[in-house]
Amino acid sequence: MSKNKAPIGIFDSGIGGLTVASAIKRVLPNESFVYFGDTAHLPYGDKSPESIRSYSRRIAEFLIDKQCKIIVIACNTASAHAFKEVQSHVKIPVVNVIDPVASLIAHRYKQGSIGIIGTKGTIATRVYPKRIQKLNPALTVKSLATPLLAPMIEEGYFNNAISKTIIHSYLSKPALKGIKALVLGCTHYPMIKKEVADFYRNAAVDIIDGSQVAAEAVKAILKEHKLLRKTSHKEKDHFYVSDFTASFEKSTRDFFGSRINLNEARIWD
Ligand code: DGL
Repeated sequence: MSKNKAPIGIFDSGIGGLTVASAIKRVLPNESFVYFGDTAHLPYGDKSPESIRSYSRRIAEFLIDKQCKIIVIACNTASAHAFKEVQSHVKIPVVNVIDPVASLIAHRYKQGSIGIIGTKGTIATRVYPKRIQKLNPALTVKSLATPLLAPMIEEGYFNNAISKTIIHSYLSKPALKGIKALVLGCTHYPMIKKEVADFYRNAAVDIIDGSQVAAEAVKAILKEHKLLRKTSHKEKDHFYVSDFTASFEKSTRDFFGSRINLNEARIWD
């Protein structure tokens, strides 16, 4: 297979990366992809950095075996803990979902406070404040770990009274007071974007969903490496999980339609 025709490899702990995969599909309609959801280890947000690095390395090997031409770490927690590790482990380009958003924030907002919500793992690394303030020291970054959100979303549990209560309880915390924008710093969170926007309906707070900007970054890197696929095709995208779950299958169908190709890949056995 010519390198340009090779698929894009994308991974997350579960369904979160589907938000990035669908943005990639919109931005790069000629490309096909192989998606890996590490449902056996979900949630990543409370795992140690060492565990996340070792999971990410193994998944990268799996995607290389599937002939992928680029790896997209469609998970903030894995991007925070394992980007460098994966980059040095493989010979193909690797994209994380944090740098494109940090750059967007640093250039779009001149000063003031920016809020970040994410998993315990992502927030503990302080990766967003560090990268944003490096690019724009005039910005203050306020972070809050919201560990109940990813497991709740993974279960398909949102747009209901309980998810509304949990989301409101997190977003009303003093830690996020006075922000002009809120970064959805976990790839699961675009699925609750409407509920977050409802919370801020009377306040001028922009909600930043990084999936589109991550997809644009993938396009730029493929272009730089002359790896873009020029023509359309009928090949299917492939979805793998390390442990089959009905909720993963349902979410994948919601995003990509009923004819998805989903398999279990027991890469940890
Ligand atoms: N979607 C992931 C992220 O962006 C991981 C959520 C989790 O598994 O805890 O951080």
